[in-house]
Amino acid sequence: MAFKDKIIFITGAGSGFGQALARALDEHEANLCLCDIDDTSLQNTLASLKHPSNHLTQCFDVSHENSFKDAINACINHFKRLDILVNNAGVGGKPKPIIEITDADLDRYFAINSKSVLFGMKHAIPQMIKQGEGSILNVASMAGLIGSPTLGAYSASKHAVVGLTKTAALEYAKMGIRVNAICPYFVPTPLVTQMREDAKMAAIEKMNPMGRMGRVEEIVTAMLSIIHPANTYMNGQTIQVDGGIGA
Ligand SMILES: NC(=O)c1ccc[n+]([C@@H]2O[C@H](COP(=O)([O-])OP(=O)(O)OC[C@H]3O[C@@H](n4cnc5c(N)ncnc54)[C@H](O)[C@@H]3O)[C@@H](O)[C@H]2O)c1
Repeated sequence: MAFKDKIIFITGAGSGFGQALARALDEHEANLCLCDIDDTSLQNTLASLKHPSNHLTQCFDVSHENSFKDAINACINHFKRLDILVNNAGVGGKPKPIIEITDADLDRYFAINSKSVLFGMKHAIPQMIKQGEGSILNVASMAGLIGSPTLGAYSASKHAVVGLTKTAALEYAKMGIRVNAICPYFVPTPLVTQMREDAKMAAIEKMNPMGRMGRVEEIVTAMLSIIHPANTYMNGQTIQVDGGIGA
């Protein structure tokens, strides 16, 4: 029960990894601030938890700095501290080669996938400095570490997450704050399944050394380990959860 009574802020909690992480941490009796842009899915997540009254929900767009700042302040006002921030919300999109990527594509990916990570860290870290401790997990991707044909804009936005993670890890290490990123390979959440036909999904599976995609629970297991309160010397890492493809 290492997470019992910890205050944990999770973005993108209405679906996929964020929802599954919320369920796992609710089992551990953590106090969660669950956030998503989609209030219906957020309320579905809350309704699926065993201890709904322990948690706060906030519906906002992570790409708007003031909204993110207000949500973090509301979490701190409510729970009086903030132990862990999980910058998980993100978007995918229709695969396209570099020569078809538009200015608007880049703006969308960077606003939601990269700038949001900066906003979350920027407004959570001052509270963590006051506490003398804190932990941040940014959800990057294997596409944030290696080239990803037809996912150029997504890949660039996730490389930015890796850069922000490593930089924040170095800036705040002496203040007791750990900052790490997780880099999953493909997992069939709505972000992936909405954009790809079955033939593409089969090709993605075949490409992996294990011959399959990841499972949501495998990513959550790694997330729990990275943010575990006893995992005190892991900092500035980009943890690959990828079936071995990065090897
Ligand atoms: N599924 C994969 O294969 C995979 C692999 C590597 C990394 N990731 C990353 O994992 C994270 C979670 O993705 P997932 O696979 O669980 O996808 P998902 O689509 O199931 O969940 C993403 C959640 O983020 C929310 N969201 C989207 N835009 C938002 C915004 N502007 N403000 C607030 N919330 C917003 C969505 O409403 C949704 O609930 C993302 O950052 C994604 O890039 C996913």
